[in-house]
Amino acid sequence: MESSDALVFFGATGNLAHKKIFPALAALVARGQLDIPIIAVARSGDTHKQLLERIQQSLIDHGDFDADVFAKLSSLVRQVDGDYADMATFDKLRAELGDTRHPLHYLAIPPSLFPTVIDSLAKSGCATGARVVVEKPFGRDLESSRALNMALHSAFEESSVFRIDHYLGKEAIMGLSYFRFANTFLEPIWNRLYVKSVQITMAEDFGVEGRGAFYEDVGALRDVVQNHMLQVLAMVAMEPPSGRDSEGLRDEKVKVLRAMPPIQVEDVVRGQYEGYRNEPGVNPDSTTETFVALRAQVDTWRWSGVPFYIRAGKGLATTAMEVYVELRRPPTGVQLGQTGEAAANSLHFRLSPDVSISLSANVKAPGPEMAGKLVELSFNELPSADGLDPYERLLGDAIEGDTTLFTREDTVDEAWKVVNDVLGDATAVHPYFRGSWGPEASDRLVGEGGWHNPEIRQG
Ligand code: BG6
Repeated sequence: MESSDALVFFGATGNLAHKKIFPALAALVARGQLDIPIIAVARSGDTHKQLLERIQQSLIDHGDFDADVFAKLSSLVRQVDGDYADMATFDKLRAELGDTRHPLHYLAIPPSLFPTVIDSLAKSGCATGARVVVEKPFGRDLESSRALNMALHSAFEESSVFRIDHYLGKEAIMGLSYFRFANTFLEPIWNRLYVKSVQITMAEDFGVEGRGAFYEDVGALRDVVQNHMLQVLAMVAMEPPSGRDSEGLRDEKVKVLRAMPPIQVEDVVRGQYEGYRNEPGVNPDSTTETFVALRAQVDTWRWSGVPFYIRAGKGLATTAMEVYVELRRPPTGVQLGQTGEAAANSLHFRLSPDVSISLSANVKAPGPEMAGKLVELSFNELPSADGLDPYERLLGDAIEGDTTLFTREDTVDEAWKVVNDVLGDATAVHPYFRGSWGPEASDRLVGEGGWHNPEIRQG
């Protein structure tokens, strides 16, 4: 596996570049892990000086600006300016690549441009020996995702395709599978005999924040469920990966998705926060969901019959991502008296913004009665300053050619199959207030005990 010897970056003037990619490149430079030419391709008409100013501003706004790192990064940056629809742009790129043998092309551009860009990369010879990184959303349904895969495969082999889902590069999400497989005490109970249900919540207390035009066309199900949340579900439900190569983990995740029956309309509740229709770029009659709750199944020997509840939304009461695993109650209360609170008997992973793993248990409350009370054994960790940002980790991996943390074609396909029947207006959209936990209608999906809302923590 040879490392890439140039990074070609389409979409250098975009929002993602500003917020995530330039800071990640600077962080890689700071760690001494990036020393290859970076060729920024854009159709902005920027001079080289303007491009460097743009990068500098990105690092000031979203990174840890360090003059030495910026100087080193600037020395690596080259530029090709031109229209993506114009073959001359790609001929210029080919010339700029010189004798580079394994360029990595990063397509941080709207998916509608992928086919044109891929085709021109192939025709100009820029795709030879190259790898490609593509951003989400990967298509908007099963059919369009397959069409995109065909376009990619016309120029790149699957082993050279890196589909980014930045959740896979998150420290806490990698920590979830680590915790599962590094501790034998979990394995005997991690199945349908002991687990009653699993809830996965991704809450955001902000709205679409200037991304209305993008979001209006996408909605919560496509934006975060088909990718981030199903990936987290797969991490929770998968079997331990076997083998030493990058495919072991990807094989196990895809098996989980393959075992999920397509979600049906009765298992979905969509919501839209009040005021969404007034956001810039949003249709005044919009039926796009900013919230979605789902009930899913994983029909494997381990999980059959255990409901997996998923909930994601914007404009909710807090910003947090959590996995809540509810264990079955002990079969009798006779010896124990009244067991404690309903929330006991659960394992609880908080994945962001802070990280904690908690086990809630019933213990005897002091006193004459055999009555229980809830205690929590908890491990907490604040995001650490030397933890890798997901983009930094993933870009570094892509440059090295390591596909482990990228989404494989079959996985994208299976994830679309899970949600394909309930996309768009397949179900009604219910209004909800900002700062709430979404529409009340979502309560009907979960059984006794209801949804477990992430704790609102300050600071
Ligand atoms: C992105 C979605 O993929 O993930 C956004 O497009 C969402 O809508 C974001 O806000 C959440 O990512 P993070 O890393 O902030 O949890």
